Amino acid sequence: MDNNQYKLAIVGATGLVGRTALKVLEEKNLPISEYVFFASSHSSGKELVFQNKTYIVRELTESSFDEGFDFAIFSAGSDTAKKYAPIAAAHGCIVVDNSSAFRMEKNVPLVVPEVNPEEIKNNHGIIANPNCSTIQAVVPLKALDNKYHITRVVYSTYQAVSGAGRLGLEDLENGAKGIPPKKFAHPIYNNCLPHIDVFLENGYTKEEEKMINETRKILKRPGLKVTATCVRVPVTNSHSESINVEFEKPFELEEIRETLSNYPGIVLLDNVSKNEYPLATIASGHDEVYVGRIRRDESVENGLNLWVVADNIRKGAASNAIQIVEKLIEYDM
Ligand code: A2P
Repeated sequence: MDNNQYKLAIVGATGLVGRTALKVLEEKNLPISEYVFFASSHSSGKELVFQNKTYIVRELTESSFDEGFDFAIFSAGSDTAKKYAPIAAAHGCIVVDNSSAFRMEKNVPLVVPEVNPEEIKNNHGIIANPNCSTIQAVVPLKALDNKYHITRVVYSTYQAVSGAGRLGLEDLENGAKGIPPKKFAHPIYNNCLPHIDVFLENGYTKEEEKMINETRKILKRPGLKVTATCVRVPVTNSHSESINVEFEKPFELEEIRETLSNYPGIVLLDNVSKNEYPLATIASGHDEVYVGRIRRDESVENGLNLWVVADNIRKGAASNAIQIVEKLIEYDM
């Protein structure tokens, strides 16, 4: 393929992740010469300004991919992905899907470019973008697993309302005015809700199950001991996570800091004497994963605690998907 000849579709271009994808694409200089933006029938004909040009949003239909695309980024939920991603793939388009529809399928790579970029080469037309909470967790975990071999992970998350889309943001804003929530089961304003996605029979939520299963798949550690508690907090954007890790091998804290700070995509922010540690307000608008509060878990033999923060709409969704497209171009796929 010649330089600058790629054609990219964005499905769900009018949504929170879709619009952020346009912003991230404007910041980058990808060799893409043609863009087409799709959404539901309800947005058909709407105008989107991208790279100083006005585009008309098209309704996604079964014939949308007939004209031929190299790549498509889907951010339109699982139902849309299940119906249209196979159609796109059948027309030779490689789909990067943000939903959970295909993540655990055997033939679908689940990719974080800093962690397992080579998996991209095993795609059969669909590549899955992991869950936002998983993406930011596995970047530092992979850096440490390479060196010390992880034996157990305990996640506790503090997730922003933007992860629940436009309605999530509205519930927080309206909650401050006493208006009851539409998206969440309880008011998110002044509350922490230990409830993200639906509850499963074992008492976990689907979000927690996603973190557990996706971590195992991405790190290629099917038997890894992982548990999670996922909590929605009244923060507009960027997820924060406490990650407790146990290793097979002993470690020095200074070595851990060095390993993390040398790993691609990580910003180390760990200077408690100056009250410096990752914050949602620091990570928002950036693509890096911020890591700090690094300290030994003194209750076990080789245990470590980390505080990990990233922009859930950028690194947790749009930017990760675009990084995958960049890799597809690099690999000439
Ligand atoms: P629309 O704006 O036309 O409803 P969010 O998660 O922020 O709510 O965004 C969801 C995105 O997915 C929107 O762009 C939305 O388009 C799009 N979408 C939802 N359902 C469909 C569908 N059936 N076909 C195409 N796009 C869809």
